[in-house]
Amino acid sequence: MLGRVNHIAIAVPDLGSATTTYRDTLGARVSQAQALPEHGVTVVFVELPNTKVELLEPLGPDSPIAAFLEKNPSGGMHHICYEVDDIIAVRDKLKAVGARVLGDGNPKIGAHGKPVLFLHPKDFNGTLVELEQV
Ligand code: CO
Repeated sequence: MLGRVNHIAIAVPDLGSATTTYRDTLGARVSQAQALPEHGVTVVFVELPNTKVELLEPLGPDSPIAAFLEKNPSGGMHHICYEVDDIIAVRDKLKAVGARVLGDGNPKIGAHGKPVLFLHPKDFNGTLVELEQV
């Protein structure tokens, strides 16, 4: 059911500072910052040979990562994103076994222009899981 890890997301309190860390200290290639108002975040992609890291900074008062940063003021790993072939089929299979899909349960278009869904961390070992149809 699961394909590759598409990205690992890290919530950060200061995107400029996090970008500097990844670009200058760690020597990674990083993208320009991209505001995603529908998701309440501004994101920078760190391009790695085998996957991406997304650095997420809250955008707007209702950002879904604001509460996370209150609990983790210096930032922390926020979610992991797995690729799937058919997001609706996977969603229906997971719902049938009681897994909770966040939001209204319908895929939204994510940061890469593809449909995404989030799964409740309590159903997946304390880790927020994103599914992205590729
Ligand atoms: Co993500």
